[in-house]
Amino acid sequence: GEPGRLEGMHVLVTAGGTVERIDPVRYITNDSSGKMGYAIAEEAVRMGAKVTLVSGPSALPVPCGVEIVRIQSALDMREAVLSRLEASHLIVKAAAVADYRPAVVAEQKIKKKSDSLTLELIKNPDILQEIGTLKKHQFVVGFAAETEALDEHAMDKLSRKNCDLIVGNDVSQEGAGFSGDTNVVRIYDRNGLVEALPIQSKKDVARRLLELAADRMPAAARN
Ligand code: PMT
Repeated sequence: GEPGRLEGMHVLVTAGGTVERIDPVRYITNDSSGKMGYAIAEEAVRMGAKVTLVSGPSALPVPCGVEIVRIQSALDMREAVLSRLEASHLIVKAAAVADYRPAVVAEQKIKKKSDSLTLELIKNPDILQEIGTLKKHQFVVGFAAETEALDEHAMDKLSRKNCDLIVGNDVSQEGAGFSGDTNVVRIYDRNGLVEALPIQSKKDVARRLLELAADRMPAAARN
């Protein structure tokens, strides 16, 4: 994107997977590396924004000029995001948040006993949906990671979670989704498909996404 395009904007980006503890030495997580979200944070700085990155555990270097907030669980991420909602103009939720967490976190390491063990999971709050309910001046970009019926599922998430844009990610496609350096996405707004991006670096996806968001953000959002 054009340097200066996001001048004066506070951009809040989430990245990486959340970690949901089972006991002191075990947890549930997912394949998100943080690459997509870190690329968005880096590009937003290049476009002149003040950027805060709320990140699950990731080995990636923090892009220059980005304020990092490291979190573990979905509940941690929720708190980090909601407390910064008011001050943000643009929110981009690239993180892969666990939908469920263990109902209880064992205080001690769980001992091996019977032949089977059932782990009860309970639903995590949907952070994006909460943002969608609370938002006023904020422009909100969600992601949708899908393995089937991408258009339908992405549009459904956009309307349920009240996003301004949603990035549909068919993670079953070659070169798309978790861990790699490239992505293949389809970007939608309330009226449907805006742009289908062929395979390209996550950096280029980040740039195009932020240009589309900047085009749609009212100048008044800068105040
Ligand atoms: O990190 P990388 O390795 O580069 O991988 C990038 C990515 C595949 C993680 C990224 O491109 C992506 O698709 N991120 C969204 C992953 C996801 O969890 O999607 P979802 O369809 O389950 O969730 C939809 C949206 O709701 C997302 O914006 C998610 O952040 C948000 N959500 C989901 C659940 C929840 N409890 N709270 C949320 O805010």
